[in-house]
Amino acid sequence: MTIPTSSPTPGYRIALAVLALAIGLGITTRTLAADEPASEAGMGERLQACSGCHGERGRSDPEHAYFPAIAGKPAGYLFEQLINFKKGRRHHDIMQSMFAVLSDQYLQDIAEYYAGQTPRHSAAVSHPAAETRGAETLVFQGAPDRDIPACAACHGKALTGALPTIPGLLGLRSEYLAAQLGAWREGTRRAAAPDCMHTIAQRLRSDEIDRVSKWLASQPYPTGAKPLPQLPDPLPIPCGASR
Ligand code: HEC
Ligand code: HEC
Repeated sequence: MTIPTSSPTPGYRIALAVLALAIGLGITTRTLAADEPASEAGMGERLQACSGCHGERGRSDPEHAYFPAIAGKPAGYLFEQLINFKKGRRHHDIMQSMFAVLSDQYLQDIAEYYAGQTPRHSAAVSHPAAETRGAETLVFQGAPDRDIPACAACHGKALTGALPTIPGLLGLRSEYLAAQLGAWREGTRRAAAPDCMHTIAQRLRSDEIDRVSKWLASQPYPTGAKPLPQLPDPLPIPCGASR
């Protein structure tokens, strides 16, 4: 598997994106940017432009390898991403233009709305053992000789993430995971400093990114699992957050 540093955009997605942008421009002046707080249903309506790609209530169609589900992810994590797009630390033309005009408070409301929705995860996709060799060790033990901490030290023993800002790693497609790790390594996805994922991705070899992404995508999502309220131990290396 190659590691794309940005998501491929087939024709129909461009058409969808242009449509979403047209709607988006309308909503930035009217619906999306409304000042008064919205009810749960009202929020869903205001965020119609997002559902073209992320599905109703952020429960993306798991078949869309590069459109991540956002439902049920930690609010702090989602907020960080909205800020990352707004500040150009992550790249996506449509979302960047939508978020550019929204206040941080409104982005916080959007993050909380999606965090409160029930997630729909991609089904596990199995890969031949040869393609995932060594991945499990890396995930649970890291590679101490190369200063790579275990992924589980931050993403949780069950890999379902932890409040407030750490996302889970299960129920995502290997294409999306590998693209994100590749983007972090190249510096086209960044997070608030200190950007721990950039440090980690730079220490991973391409074949490790490939193996870990496939291994993670082949794990079933534990039914009813949620992000941990907090991690049992301090982070092995510091990670930044905007707030
Ligand atoms: C044209 C399709 C499209 C539209 C419309 C869209 N998104 Fe996205 N969104 C994406 C793609 C593709 C990604 C993954 C980008 C990447 O590879 O970094 C993404 C990523 C995200 C992420 C980060 C997810 C994660 O797990 O890191 C959030 C949060 C998000 N979008 C929220 C929104 C919200 C809120 C809206 C509506 C205001 C919206 N998006 C509209 C396509 C879209
Ligand atoms: C020191 C803590 C730490 C370790 C260790 C760590 N991560 Fe992360 N990871 C984070 C944080 C924090 C984020 C959210 C960054 C942001 O705000 O964008 C993240 C985000 C991610 C994402 C983005 C998920 C999404 O929905 O877009 C992926 C993929 C990921 N990590 C994979 C890994 C893998 C694979 C490993 C092990 C090789 C690992 N991480 C180890 C802290 C860590």
